[in-house]
Amino acid sequence: LVFFCVSSVAMADGASLTALSVWENQRGSKLTIETIDPTTGVLTGNYINNAAGYGCIGSPYRVVGYVYGNLIGWSVRWSNAHEDCQSITSWTGYYQNGTITTQWELVYGTQINDGADMFTSVAKREL
Ligand code: BTN
Repeated sequence: LVFFCVSSVAMADGASLTALSVWENQRGSKLTIETIDPTTGVLTGNYINNAAGYGCIGSPYRVVGYVYGNLIGWSVRWSNAHEDCQSITSWTGYYQNGTITTQWELVYGTQINDGADMFTSVAKREL
């Protein structure tokens, strides 16, 4: 009974940094975490950029990164079969109370732009 109650409280946020979780930021972009290696923390997945004012919108790009407890970092090289934006973004942040809070840097040529993204869990679609 005790374990059940604790588990219920822990699930109240409905999310954590786990494989097969999907996260959406305030720009409508989506991070899908596909795998997390339990030994190394290495993360793989994909990222669909939907942010207005940027290139490489609307198709999935490979994600590589790390998870360490509630800490997370990942990078995207913006090149896939559809488009090459000749740029790389890295996000660094932490998971807390159902939200991944991040800061990011985007490098293109000799320009580095930065900003902040907040991601919340996207409910898994019912089959
Ligand atoms: C580019 O325009 O060179 C590639 C796309 C960059 C999209 C950026 S990455 C940081 C910010 N957060 C998003 O979800 N999209 C933008």
